Amino acid sequence: MEPTPDLSPAATLTDAEFAQFQALLRGITGIHLSEFKKTLLAARLGSRLRARQARTFTDYYKIVKNPQEAGELQLAIDLLTTNETFFFREPEHFQVLKDYIAALRPVPSPFRVWSAASSSGEEAYSIAMVLADVLGGGKWEVAGSDISTRVLERARAGLYPLERNGGIPTDYLHRFCLKGQGPQEGMMLIGKQLRERVHFAQVNLNEPIPDLGRFDLIFLRNILIYFQNDQKRKVVEAILPRLKPQGLLIVGHSENLMGVSDRVRQVRPTVYRGA
Ligand SMILES: C[S@@+](CC[C@H](N)C(=O)[O-])C[C@H]1O[C@@H](n2cnc3c(N)ncnc32)[C@H](O)[C@@H]1O
Repeated sequence: MEPTPDLSPAATLTDAEFAQFQALLRGITGIHLSEFKKTLLAARLGSRLRARQARTFTDYYKIVKNPQEAGELQLAIDLLTTNETFFFREPEHFQVLKDYIAALRPVPSPFRVWSAASSSGEEAYSIAMVLADVLGGGKWEVAGSDISTRVLERARAGLYPLERNGGIPTDYLHRFCLKGQGPQEGMMLIGKQLRERVHFAQVNLNEPIPDLGRFDLIFLRNILIYFQNDQKRKVVEAILPRLKPQGLLIVGHSENLMGVSDRVRQVRPTVYRGA
């Protein structure tokens, strides 16, 4: 028998309900959703309302606020974060990484890089390809972290649709990626030699950061744009102790640390050196 189509009218999100979710998201992640994002929030959570048979956004809010519903809250956070990313996004930063290593005598061992809002892993694996290229079998590692468990699962699998490999230099594609066959037809798998060196963990940058050790470079790209200034300051302050002296902190092209931290020195737009 055909499943009965869901003909119930979509719930409308009132201003008061929007304000509740806005505060919830900000409290947990630090992300500020402006008033213009009301339609987006309603669209992104709509499927969860239906799945949980919540008639109104207030009903769904009660569900996610229930301490027994941590899984549902995580699903809501997953849906409300924007996870857009791609391999070798903002490619100059990968040249910065190469140049930084080329100037080091000796290269610290292990050489460590953190992709601090790694989304589904493309940034962390792009970094790993560069490190495998310039440091080869030497001691190096990449940490990737994100608040969203949904993207972290994809990152750990290291399996991507073939059409997403556009930014990867052809040479790297041949050396570090495998073309999926059989059930993985149309997909590309990151080679084991890289997957073994890249570790992903859930880290909420809005909470005390776990002891991940210190890093030579930290990529904190395309996340600060979602924060207001006080939140940017809080996150950068929390991250800086994880940067080795003279290490580099890299932000996205539409971001900067002006008025955010005076503990770093800008070496070029979007690239900062720690004290
Ligand atoms: C637009 S993606 C950027 C991905 C990658 N850095 C890049 O530049 O392509 C932003 C990521 O930040 C994550 N994020 C948002 N708030 C976070 C928080 N408080 N802690 C950790 N990650 C967070 C989101 O889940 C999302 O995957």
